Order: sequence, then C-alpha cells, then structure tokens
Amino acid sequence: MSDRRQERSDRRCTSFHVLTLFPEMIRQGLGESITGRAIARGLISLEAVNIRDYTLDKHKKVDDYPYGGGAGMLMQAQPVYDAWRAVAESIDRQGRRGSAARVIYLTPQGAAFCQDMARELAGEEDLIFLCGHYEGIDERVLEEIVTDQVSIGDYVLTGGELPAMVMIDAIARMVPGVLSNARSGETESFGNHLLEYPQYSRPEIWHERRVPQILLSGNHQKVEEWRLEQSLERTGRLRPDLYEKWAEENQEYFIRKAKRQERARRKMLRNAQKEQQK
Ligand code: ADE
Repeated sequence: MSDRRQERSDRRCTSFHVLTLFPEMIRQGLGESITGRAIARGLISLEAVNIRDYTLDKHKKVDDYPYGGGAGMLMQAQPVYDAWRAVAESIDRQGRRGSAARVIYLTPQGAAFCQDMARELAGEEDLIFLCGHYEGIDERVLEEIVTDQVSIGDYVLTGGELPAMVMIDAIARMVPGVLSNARSGETESFGNHLLEYPQYSRPEIWHERRVPQILLSGNHQKVEEWRLEQSLERTGRLRPDLYEKWAEENQEYFIRKAKRQERARRKMLRNAQKEQQK
C-alpha cells in the first residue's frame, strides 16, 4: 500500500450524532463546504436524529408544562432518553461502545467552548450532541445521560442546534485530513493563543492601498517574522488576555528580540562613530 493510502486507512472517522427536534437544520448547516466534503470523504460522519420520532405520545408531543409553574414548556425525559438509547445501540452495532460515548448538552450554563476543548474532543470516536428547545429539558434525563454541558458564549439562543453546529465545525477541522496539509488545524495561529496576521492577495494596489512591501520581497524568514509581529500587535491590542498567555509561554521570544535590538543599536552606534571619524 502506498504511504498516502496507508495514512488514509490509519485515520479514524469521527462520528457526530445530534439529537434534535430540527434534524434538517443540522444536515443543511453542515452538509456544505469543508464539513460537507469531509463527510463525503468519510473523514467524519454526521447523523441527525429527530427526538420527536421517539415520543410515545399519540399526538407526537415532546414537551409539557414545568411542575411548580413558570413560563414556557420543557422537553420531556422519555423521548430524549429513547433517542439517546437508539443512537447508543446503533454505535454498539458498529463495534464501538455507544453508552460510553460523551454526550454534550448545549446550554448557556455550560463550560465555555474554546479551541483547546475542540482539540480534545477531536480525539473522540463518537460524540453525541443534545440540543434543547423551549425552556430546557427535564433535569432527570440530563442527570442520566449527559457527560458535558457546554456553552458557546454568554448569550441565549432559541435552541442548541446552532451551538452544536458551531462545535462540530470547530472539532471537525481538527480531525486529521479535514483541512489540507498546508493548512492543518493544529498549526493554526489561534492554536497558540494568537490572532491571525493580516493577509493580502492580488492586485498589489487596490483603492490606492499597497500590499506591505515585505510580502513581495521573497524573503521567507522576514515574511514569517513580520507575520508574527503583526499577530502579536493585533493580539496585544484586541485580546490582551490571549497575549498574556502567549507571552508567558514564549518568554525566550522576548529575550531573543531584546538581544537582536541590542545588536542593531550597537551596530548603529559603531556606524555613527565611523561617520564622525571621517
Ligand atoms: N442554548 C441556548 N443558548 C446557548 C448558548 N449560548 N450556548 C450553548 N447552548 C445554548
């Protein structure tokens, strides 16, 4: 087998299973572009399961009033539990352990989603996402099946579908092979706590704005240095919290930079002295 084919067969597929009342939203949201191609290439798989298909109610109802009163309706435990069990059993039939798969409940009360979490979850074979609607889900089924509660930000959405799609997109791009080799998710600048540097394409001048000269120089090392400087400047200005993290982990960068600046200062001084002696 060629190296390339061997590498492909060594790759494991990451399977996403989404328990939702709106399966089409999930299929359409993730069926295009990079995630769509990753599904077609078998690098990830996506299954959207309609919780309503599992209700035992003859009117297909999945929600009811909360005990104790209060606004809105709650998703009931039974259809959620049975949908989860069906997914777990189908994973079992594929030779993996369905009941051991992590179940992520999307809620504003959860732990904040971040790149480190995406990287960690990309190592799992199966991930089950539970999308709530209405005022939430009966606590008893959450206690029984949920392993992780995750929020994508401090705001309240109408349901868990968009957060699940956000998470699946971020996790999928960390799965080996989903992005091209030249742009692996692991080497992304955000992965090392820095924001992206500015990028430019043709033409060289647009609306009287020039592409920075250094990018046209062909000097790869200088270009890389410039990009890092730009990333650092942006991160320091826009996300001082991330800058602090990077600075802590890359102290040697500042030592090397200080040394470089000192050498340049000495050289300038020597040249000025030579000029004076002339
Ligand atoms: N459901 C509603 N709002 C949410 C949020 N911000 N994050 C995750 N799940 C949610």
